Amino acid sequence: MSRNATIEIDGKKYEFPIIEGTENELAIDIKTLRSITGGVTTIDPGFKNTGSCESAITFLDGEKGILRYRGYSIEELAEKAEFLEVAYLLIFGELPTAEELTKFHNDIKDQAHVDEDVKKILDGFPKTAHPMGVLSSLTSALVAFNPDSVNVDSEEEMYNAIVRILGKFPVLAAWTYRKHAGLPLDYGDNSLGYVDNFFKMMFKKPAADYESNEIVVSALNKLLILHADHEQNCSTSTVRIVGSSNAGLFVSISAGINALWGPLHGGANQAVIEMLEAIKGDGGDTKKYMAKAKDKEDSFRLMGFGHRVYKNFDPRAKIIKVAADEVLNELGIEDPILDIAKGLEKEALEDPYFVDRKLYPNVDFYSGIIYRALGIPTDMFTPMFALGRLPGWISQWREMRLGKEPIGRPRQIYIGETHRNFIPLKKR
Ligand code: SDX
Repeated sequence: MSRNATIEIDGKKYEFPIIEGTENELAIDIKTLRSITGGVTTIDPGFKNTGSCESAITFLDGEKGILRYRGYSIEELAEKAEFLEVAYLLIFGELPTAEELTKFHNDIKDQAHVDEDVKKILDGFPKTAHPMGVLSSLTSALVAFNPDSVNVDSEEEMYNAIVRILGKFPVLAAWTYRKHAGLPLDYGDNSLGYVDNFFKMMFKKPAADYESNEIVVSALNKLLILHADHEQNCSTSTVRIVGSSNAGLFVSISAGINALWGPLHGGANQAVIEMLEAIKGDGGDTKKYMAKAKDKEDSFRLMGFGHRVYKNFDPRAKIIKVAADEVLNELGIEDPILDIAKGLEKEALEDPYFVDRKLYPNVDFYSGIIYRALGIPTDMFTPMFALGRLPGWISQWREMRLGKEPIGRPRQIYIGETHRNFIPLKKR
C-alpha cells in the first residue's frame, strides 16, 4: 500500500512518498525536497530523526530492546555461533556452510601477517601512546603495503581487501598492546581458532608456551559477537561516509576507529571502568556520582548509561551482565567493581532522572568488567570493541559500495554574517 506525506510551505502543498521497511519502519523519502520546493531542506543535528540509508544488515528496535544481524537474534548468535561465522553472516548475508567457513578462515589466515616495515612505524610511537591512536594509524598505513586494496570496485577485489583486513587487524591490535606493554612483537599460530589466535598474539609470554583457556576464548568470542554491528551508529556512519567518496576499505575503517574512540561512543567502555574505579576510591559513594550525572552544571555523565536508540535495556548489556558473573565465577575472580556496577545500575533504574529519560545500561556498562577479568588492560578495551565491530564496518562499507550510494554530503542552514565588503587593515 503506497502512502504519501504532505508538507505545506506558505500555503503550497508538497507530496513525498513514505517507504516501509521489512520490519514496518516508515520513512518519508525526501530525495526530491530541495528541487520541488525551490531550495527548502531539513535540519536534524545528530541525525536523531534522519535515516542515512536503507540497509539489510542489522535491525534494532530501541523501544523493545531487539537486536538482529541479518534476521538472527543477538541472543542466539551470542550463544551458538563463532565470531568468524557472524563476520561472514554480516558481510555476505548468510550463515556460511562448513566449507564456506573453512575457505573464509583459510583466506584470512593467508593474510595474517604484516610487512616487517610496519614494526618501524610502530616503533615511532611512544609506549604511552593510546592504543586507539596507534591502531587507527597502523590501519591507515596498511594501504602503503597493500596498494591493490585501495581501489576495490569488483566483488573479487573487495573480497581480497576484506580477508586482508580481517587477517591483519588482529595482528595490528595485538602488536599495539605488546608495544604498549614492552613485549616483543610476535605472530600467533594459524592452527588455532581466530579468537584464540588473537589472544595468543596478545598475551603469549616470550619464554613460555601458550595454553588456550576455553573459558577466556568463549567469553571473548561472545563479546566480539555482541559488538559486531549496530546499524548506523557514529563510527559505522563514519565508515560509510568516508567510503562514499570511493576511499578504500582500510582508510574507511581507520576513520571508524577514530570515531569509535570517543568516550560518548566506544570509548565509554574504558570510561566506565575509570568511573567505577573512582567510585571505589571514593569508598563506594555511588550517590556522589549519581548527583554529578544529574547536575546540568556538571559535564559528568554516568558512563555506560543511556543510548541514542535503546529506550529500554540494551539487549547486549543484559547478556554481558550475565556473562560477567559467569566468567568471574569460572575464573575464580572477585572484582569489587562488579558489585559497585550492579549497585549503580539498581540505583539509576530507581531514580526518576534516569527513568524519565529512559536511560538504561548500554553495551559498555559491563563489558569492561569481563575484559579486566580476561587480563585485558583498560586502555585496550576500545581496541577490543574495534576488533568486534570490524565485520560490521566491513559489511556496511561493502553494502554502501555495492549499492553505488552517492557521496555523502549533507546540507546546512547558514546563520553567519550576510554579505559585507572587505575593510583594509589600516581601517580596522
Ligand atoms: C555506544 O549508537 C550506537 O549504536 C552506539 C553503540 C554501538 O554499538 O555502536 O551502541 C555503542 O556508543 C553506546 C553508548 C556509549 N556511551 C556512553 O555510555 C556515554 C554516556 N551516555 C551518553 O553520553 C548518552 O546517553 C549517549 C551519547 C549514549 C546518547 O546521547 P543522546 O542520544 O544524544 O541523548 P542526549 O544527550 O540528548 O540525552 C537525553 C537526556 C539529556 O538530558 P536532558 O537534556 O533531557 O535533561 O538524557 C541525559 C542528557 O543529559 N543523559 C544522561 C546520560 N545520557 C543521557 N545524563 C546522565 N548520564 C548519562 N549517561
